[in-house]
Order: sequence, then structure tokens, then C-alpha cells
Amino acid sequence: MNIGFKLNIYTAVTILLMACTDNQNSNTITYSKVDQTNKKVDSLIKIMTLKEKIGQMNQYNGFWDATGPVPEGGDAEKKYEHLKNGLVGSMLSVRGTKAVKAVQKIVVEESRLGIPLIIGFDVIHGYKTLSPIPLAEAASWDLEAIEKSAQVAADEASAAGINWTFAPMVDISRDPRWGRVMEGAGEDPYLGSKIATARVKGFQGDDLSAVNTIAACAKHFAAYGFSEAGKEYNTVDIGYSTLHNIVLPPFKAAVNADVKTLMNAFNEYDGVPATGNTYLLRDILKNKWDFKGFVISDWASIKEMVVWGYAKDRRDAAKLAAIAGSDMDMESHAYINELEQLVLDGIIDEAIIDEAVRRILTVKFELGLFDDPYRYCDEAREKDVINNPKHKDAVLDMAKKSIVLLKNENNLLPLNKKGMNLVLIGALADEDNSPLGSWRIASKDHTAVSVLEGMQQYEGNNLVYKKGADVSIGDTEFTNELKINTADKSDFKEAVDAASMADVVVMVLGEHGFQSGEGRSRTDIDLPGVQQELLEEVYKVNKNIVLVLNNGRPLTINWADEHIPAIVEAWQLGTQSGHAIAEVLYGDYNPSGKLPMTFPRNIGQIPIYYNHKNTGRPVSDTKNPNLVFWSHYSDSESTPLYPFGHGLSYTTFEYKNLKLDKDVYNSDENINITVDITNTGKVTGKEVVQLYIRDLAASISRPVKELKGFKLTELQAGETKTIHFILNKDGLGFYNNQGDFILEPGTFKIFVGGSSYTALDAQFELQ
Ligand code: BGC
Repeated sequence: MNIGFKLNIYTAVTILLMACTDNQNSNTITYSKVDQTNKKVDSLIKIMTLKEKIGQMNQYNGFWDATGPVPEGGDAEKKYEHLKNGLVGSMLSVRGTKAVKAVQKIVVEESRLGIPLIIGFDVIHGYKTLSPIPLAEAASWDLEAIEKSAQVAADEASAAGINWTFAPMVDISRDPRWGRVMEGAGEDPYLGSKIATARVKGFQGDDLSAVNTIAACAKHFAAYGFSEAGKEYNTVDIGYSTLHNIVLPPFKAAVNADVKTLMNAFNEYDGVPATGNTYLLRDILKNKWDFKGFVISDWASIKEMVVWGYAKDRRDAAKLAAIAGSDMDMESHAYINELEQLVLDGIIDEAIIDEAVRRILTVKFELGLFDDPYRYCDEAREKDVINNPKHKDAVLDMAKKSIVLLKNENNLLPLNKKGMNLVLIGALADEDNSPLGSWRIASKDHTAVSVLEGMQQYEGNNLVYKKGADVSIGDTEFTNELKINTADKSDFKEAVDAASMADVVVMVLGEHGFQSGEGRSRTDIDLPGVQQELLEEVYKVNKNIVLVLNNGRPLTINWADEHIPAIVEAWQLGTQSGHAIAEVLYGDYNPSGKLPMTFPRNIGQIPIYYNHKNTGRPVSDTKNPNLVFWSHYSDSESTPLYPFGHGLSYTTFEYKNLKLDKDVYNSDENINITVDITNTGKVTGKEVVQLYIRDLAASISRPVKELKGFKLTELQAGETKTIHFILNKDGLGFYNNQGDFILEPGTFKIFVGGSSYTALDAQFELQ
């Protein structure tokens, strides 16, 4: 045991316990690691006072980097006192080995029991070296790469003293107005579940106590992505079928992957705030799913239950949250101020406190914090790991895999490497800050490679850059310093003149990184500011335009889709953004990304998603405005602009010979599906082969398509491969409104193809 700190009561207890464990081993009674941890936790709880236990349930923000309103009375002095008195179990947003060591030293050396803090931080898509925003990573459909990206993030964050990330966000959302879609994996529960698993595995690794792994946190439990009208922090009003079949599966997948923590959501569900929701937290999470980790509230979400009109006051809020199963209070200061009296008054059973503390201490043991509370505070490791060049390579790889080629008429892309006059236009083309997105607390501003820099690496062409127009950044409390005049068209002329002489114009347009993310919902998702006008002006003089989109959400780019020959979805791609985009534009990397979220034609279509219900009156001709009594719009096509799963390549693929091994199956049989895919183009390329099903009649109507499998496969030009999928009851069943997974006999259709729209189909019976 490594005791680099004062020997207090607790360390003595630990030594005793470890000695016991060794003896037991030699006396042939062997205890599993889990049993041993449970015993240690139990004996520790026995010597804790009620106050100390409640202290473990209290989390304070560090003295900087608040991501929400700074709580009243949350002054540094009081926090210091609480740390010394063992009344803090965790801190968030303290970072860097020196700072973490300093707070850890206070609790370890000065508090009675010296129980180490768990240090949380929003490591969303990297720590210093940033990967693409999570929505972009989801577009890769490359689970290995996504897991690796989370590993890199854990490696850097753990080297900075952090041992717990508030990620992954696994909220499914169908509403691109909601700014936080950038932080999730899009609209689909199957893809979302696979990605949740990959991210949890990436952060936590196989051994949570290793110095380069950190505890993950699946958030926000639950249904936050369904905030009404895409408005941040809004009410959620969805039925049980959507809750169980769409919202919950990625959380369940994270729990199955042994995620150590979950975070509450800011929203209410069916009139009850998620933070005080016994149905979600106890009935489903802790009882049905047998989740063993702990639940942290979201920032101040316990006391916000008062504002919701659910709790009478802070005391009532503390009571409701604790009883519902929220184990740790992030910055409401409700538990630390109210729980003790609630127990003394007999309103809360101390067993509830013990249960929460048991969960929290268990994770601390698993992280190895009791063996060495400073294990994540190695300065030499911090220097070596953070910004390590290997991480740059990893995020570059992830960035290339995240790019989606939306359109490429007449093979305008890839660009020739020599002899062309190229004009690059758009404020975002010269941006080294925006590609870092809005979740970049630890990374240094202006450290992304811009598109301009990336393209300058290719020297064979004549490249001219013109700004043309600024991108609107919005006027928020976080971006005041970035305010700019977004109606200004004074740079249009220079850009248009240059474009008129170009062989090809590359325009980088879209949203600034600060325009999506938490608190950044929008009612208009067209290109912000005067960028659309600029695009149309340039188009008047030169039609050879490649539009590169930078954005944190689907945008409504109807006009561009109609007129612009090549469109590349390049999101916010992190530190290596410009290099990744340039490699794709020049064909050194053949894009293979597929959209994880539907692109609407206009804002009125939202929510629009591929796995919708058929309705009783599905429209047969989506383009015919003269139809009336059918489920459609009379002023717009009802199909999306780009469907879920869409994405092109510099080569083409042909699907043939979709086959099932039988026509009729029993419920416990595997359904073997094969399909041949051929690379019919001239270059090597990767394709995400997608398998969808439709259950034609069920006790709860099922969507017209549901993703149930995908395979990322690479094919040389001319090569054919046979892809094999296996479907079983996990894929064919669904949740009823009681949340039970059921399988019903009947007729199923399957569809295989390169998107949710193009597909071969077949049919079978399940009996
Ligand atoms: C967000 C969480 C985040 C927390 C801590 C909240 O505002 O909703 O996702 O983890 O702040 O920064």
C-alpha cells in the first residue's frame, strides 16, 4: 500500500482490511475483488458520521470554470472549510496535477477520515487535443475509432489529475434546433447504443484503476434530447413507447458496459423532474437494470426542482432527489445543507444515505484512489502525455473518418493536385478556434488547424483566400468577446471577383463552434448571417463550387443542395480539422461517413427522423402538392433533404443478392442474412452496409424502418464481398409500455443498403 499521506483513522482501517483479505486468501477462502471492495466500503461506512456520509454526496465546482450560474453562497472559503471537514466527496472542473493534488491534500491530510475526492470534468471530445465533436464522430460509424478517441481523451485527462468524465452524452434527439445534438450520437437508438458502449469502454478500459483510464458518466438520464421545440432545458412530453424504445436503450447499453456513473437531466419527464424521478432512477435504473454505480445530479438540477414547481423549497428538493435515487449533488448545495436534518427528523431513512455513499465509495475504490489518492497527479506523466504527438495522429484519423460527402455531381471532388486556380472563401475557412467546438474547457483557444492551413500544404495549385463574410457567433454570455458584425457585406465583392476567375471555388460556411452546444438552441438552422447570400452571389459568377459545411447540427441547406455540385459535411472536427478536410478535398482520404441524423428541408419538418411510424395515411407520392387527405405537407416535400445513414464516397457501390437462409423461423433461431456488395468505381473505398427491419404488425405499432446492424467494410476497385448479418430476438423484439422486452410472431421485412433510403428488401415469418 502506498501511503504518501498522513495516517488517519481510515488509513488504519484500510490496512486492517487488507491484512484480513490476505489472511483469508491463505486460508483458502477466496474473496472476489468485488466482495473485497464491498467489505472495505461497509467497514468504512460503519465508522463514518452522518455528516461525513452526506459529505460524500456533495460535489463542488472548482474555484473557476463554472458551466452554469455560480451558486449563491458557493464561495471558495466555505468550500475550503468543507473540504477540511470531510464534507465534500467530489470536485468538478479542478484540473492539472498541481491543482488536483492541492485539493486532494486538503481532504486526505486534514479531514478526519481522509477519504479521497473523485475529480470530475467534462472531457467531451478530448482534453487538450480535441477530437471531432461527438455527433461528427458518430458519423464515422466506426466503433473502433470512437473507442480509441475516448481512450485518447482519458489518457490526457487522467494525466491532468482527472479521474471521472461527464461523458458520454447518450441522449437521442430528433431535433436539430436543440444545440446539444452536437454532443450526442444522433437520432438512432441502435447506433447510439453501440457508440455509448464504445465510448464507455474507451474511457474506462479494462481496468479502472489503471492511471490512464477514468470513470465514465452516461448522461442525461433521461429524455433531455426530447425537450419540446428543441428549446434548451424545456419540458419533455413523450409516451412510454418512445421512452423505452428510443430514449433508454443507449443508457441500458452503457450500464451493460459497466458505466460507473449516470447524470440526471435538467428536464422533467411526464411532470416529474428527472432528478426527482423515482420511476427512472429507482424502478428502472437501480432495480430493473441493477445499476451498481452512482447517479450525479446535473448542475443545480436538485434545487431547480423548486423552480419547476415540483419541490416546495430546497429542503423538499433534497428529500425528493435523495429518495428518488440521485446520489450526489452537483452544486445545488441542497444535500450538504438539508439532508442531515431530514434524517434527524425521520423524514429520510439513513439507509438511503448509506446506499448512496456505498455507491460513491465503491467507485472511488475501483479507481484506486484509496491505494493512492495522488495516483492521477504525476507531473512527469502530465508533461509526457498531454499534447503528445501520437494524440494528434489519432484525432486526425478520427476527423477524416467523421467527414460525410453529401453530394458530388460530375465528380467535382476530389480536386486535382496541380495546375488549378482555387479560391477559398468564408470566415470559417480561416478559423483556428471554431473547429474546437463549444466543449473545449481545457484546450487552448486557437489551436485548431484551419482549412486554409490544411489546403496550403498542397502546393501544386494556385490558392487564393477571401473571407467574403463573417459567420455569426451569436451574442451570448460566453462569446461576448467574439461579437462581430454579421450583416456586413463589404467583403462580398472581393470574394466574388476572385471567384469569377477560379477553376474551382471552395466555400467553408456554416456555424461557428460556439453556435451549438449547451444553451444554444436555434429557431432557424439556415446558414447564419449573410453566408447564404454570399453563396448565391458567388454562384452567379462560378458554378464550380465545393461547399464545405462546418456545423454542430443538421442545417437546412435546400438551396445549396439544388445548386451546388459538391457538398462536404465537415462538422467541427477538432484540433486537426484543416488537415482532415484538405486530405478529403484532395482525395488523399476517401470519405466514408454517414449521417447519424436526418437533414430536414426546412424547419417546419422538425422533428423528422427515419424511424417514424407509417400513420394510417402514408403518402404515396411525396412530391405531389395536389394530394390532400394524406400524411404530408402541402407546401413542402415530406421527405428529408438527406436521410439518416446517407453519405457518398469517391467510388460507387452496388448491392446485390440479398438472401435469407430460410423463410420461416422459430423465435429462438438466428436469422442469417447475406448480401453482396461490389465496389463499382475506380478507387478503394469504405462503405457502411446497413441492415434495417420492419415489423409489419405488432401490439404497439413499429417504425417503418429500424436499424438493427451495420458493417463498415473496405473494398478495392472492382472487388465484391459477401456481408453476413445475424438477427436474433434481441433485434426483433421491442419494449412494451411497461418497459418489458417482448418478442411477437409475425411478418418482418428487412432492408439492406448504404442509407436508410436506398435498400434491397426481403421478408420472413417469425413463428
Ligand atoms: C451540463 C452537464 C455538464 C455539467 C458540468 C451542465 O450544465 O448539462 O452535461 O456535465 O454542466 O459541467
